[in-house]
Amino acid sequence: MHAFLSDSLGAGTNFTYEKLVKCILYLQEYPDIQKKCRDIVYQVCGNNPVKWSDRAAMLYLEAFLMEVSRMNSEVVGIFAIENQQETSLLGYTIPKNCAIRCYMHSALMDPKYWAEPTLFNPNRHLSDGKLKLNPAYNPFGLGPRMCIAQKEMNYVQFMVFANFLQRYTFEKEDFTGEESFESAAEMFLNCPLPFKTKVTPLTGLDQSEYH
Ligand code: HEM
Repeated sequence: MHAFLSDSLGAGTNFTYEKLVKCILYLQEYPDIQKKCRDIVYQVCGNNPVKWSDRAAMLYLEAFLMEVSRMNSEVVGIFAIENQQETSLLGYTIPKNCAIRCYMHSALMDPKYWAEPTLFNPNRHLSDGKLKLNPAYNPFGLGPRMCIAQKEMNYVQFMVFANFLQRYTFEKEDFTGEESFESAAEMFLNCPLPFKTKVTPLTGLDQSEYH
């Protein structure tokens, strides 16, 4: 039990850290989107800490988080699964006892499901002010082996992201330089390559411009 809890907490912390770093990479690349996200936080919460119950009024932030995961999925692919029977898929015969792995990025960037898939556009996850669920959006997998931590991760990522956004601005340190959006795949995880950012804390005075 100790090992399981320690692994789970470790995994949760690592995933949350990697996701926040990726969010900063996209926030500094798209300052207008960063401002739009922060304006929403201040309109809904002012200077008060963001709560989970505020999320319903901040679906653009959720769409931003989804778009970061779509462009740069947290995991490279699902764990390999072995089929115990011969089966067929899309006309291919798969002999029994194969190691089958699904590559997440292929669905998240498939032009059959996403218009201009290489474009960073949080609005693609919204329709009439509600979240729009694209069947190809599956960063936590699908079916009975789906990630057990999906709800926890959605909660933690939203809370950490929204509260950071309320307190700090993120700017490219070198405006002429191009940051890499490539990931360094570490076995199972997609980790962003190192980059620089200029972090400015928002004081109460700065925050008042939003009221
Ligand atoms: C944003 C963070 C995370 C993402 C995107 C993610 C994604 C995934 C994916 C794609 C799978 C494979 C699903 C499949 O085979 O169809 C999976 C399985 C799993 N994940 Fe996560 N995961 C995340 C965080 C975590 C954390 C923090 C934990 C630990 C508490 C965790 C525990 C598990 C377990 C135990 C499975 C295996 C479930 C099974 O085979 O029945 N995940 N995850």
